[in-house]
Amino acid sequence: MDPVNLFDFERMARERLTPMTWDYYASGSHDQITLRENDRAYDRIQLAYRVLAGVAERNLATTVQGHPVDLPILVAPSAFQCLACDEGELATVRAAGRVGTLMILSTLSTTSVEVVVEEATSPLWFQLYVYRDRSLTRSLVERVEAAGCRALVVTVDAPLLGRREADVRNRFHLPPGMGLENLHPEGGGAMPVDPSDSGLASYFCDLIDPGLDWEDIDWLSSITELPIILKGIIRSDDAVRAVEHGVAGIVVSNHGGRQLDTSPPTIEVLPEVVEAVGGRVEVYVDGGIRRGTDVIKALARGARAVMVGRPILWGLGAAGEEGAVRVLEMLGEELDLAMALCGCRDVTEITSDLIRETS
Ligand code: FNR
Ligand code: LAC
Repeated sequence: MDPVNLFDFERMARERLTPMTWDYYASGSHDQITLRENDRAYDRIQLAYRVLAGVAERNLATTVQGHPVDLPILVAPSAFQCLACDEGELATVRAAGRVGTLMILSTLSTTSVEVVVEEATSPLWFQLYVYRDRSLTRSLVERVEAAGCRALVVTVDAPLLGRREADVRNRFHLPPGMGLENLHPEGGGAMPVDPSDSGLASYFCDLIDPGLDWEDIDWLSSITELPIILKGIIRSDDAVRAVEHGVAGIVVSNHGGRQLDTSPPTIEVLPEVVEAVGGRVEVYVDGGIRRGTDVIKALARGARAVMVGRPILWGLGAAGEEGAVRVLEMLGEELDLAMALCGCRDVTEITSDLIRETS
């Protein structure tokens, strides 16, 4: 089958991946209400297009943190990409480079940051989980900075891992020989097999610091020159606080519905956060972006760029690097078409009046 949209890649990946990997990638937490709502919330938004706007040429390029990108679609961090295809994170970083965007590498990657940076043709950002062991955390941050990453994306919505029930049932674990390559020198490189739980949930509970607070963000700022972006904010007061603590950006995210179930869909809270931030830092959004029109809606509501998580894993699972490239290209093509039909020649013309407020 020749995929024509992201959902075709989803089906292809599902056929090729093991059930344990598929469940890990697809799952949300508990009843998966937030997971579903992230998608559905986009369907409820209507676009009121402009006509006769002279859209023969369109420009999708923008900048994020001052870095030029060819499209306002970034690759969200996701763990364990070698489960999707042999090349894992290397396939993703090459794909991101080929379409002119950037990737955020997970702390829990199955390829080390040094090896991934080596293959990167655009800036690499690093997603950080803060370990209870602060000397381990510090040495990881130092390594990431020395390797040449350009921003630290600190995930703040996961003091503990959300309960993904399929992973609990599957006793989710990594196959022999696969590990958390960023953590080997520091310890923490192996994910356990837990006879009564998801191995990842046990790993989190043992090693990741649930005590993380705002002072730790100040501590992180003090140990790195890298700009810090907080990922996982959904409230305006937290966004204001983040700005007061000197962050360079905010990702409005509920972790793709994998953490607190019944938390709001991100596209619905994005305007509140954007308003509270008042242009002081860039705001990005992720969760449920599957169509070019979703990207338009996110940008119209004030996001600088969007991030996509699962669709990249579908691309990797279906066809490795080529699959991830096609996923990003397809979203870009859909965005280009949606811009033309909305009467936008440039991403800066994607403004809030395109959204028809229905209630
Ligand atoms: C994630 N996500 C994630 N986030 C993070 O900060 N660090 C991580 O290691 C991971 N790992 C991870 C694994 C898998 C399998 C998924 C699906 C997601 C969350 C990710 O960055 C992003 O917030 C969501 O995936 C966005 O939602 P969509 O695009 O998947 O709907
Ligand atoms: C997840 C973690 C690793 O969502 O962020 O599975």
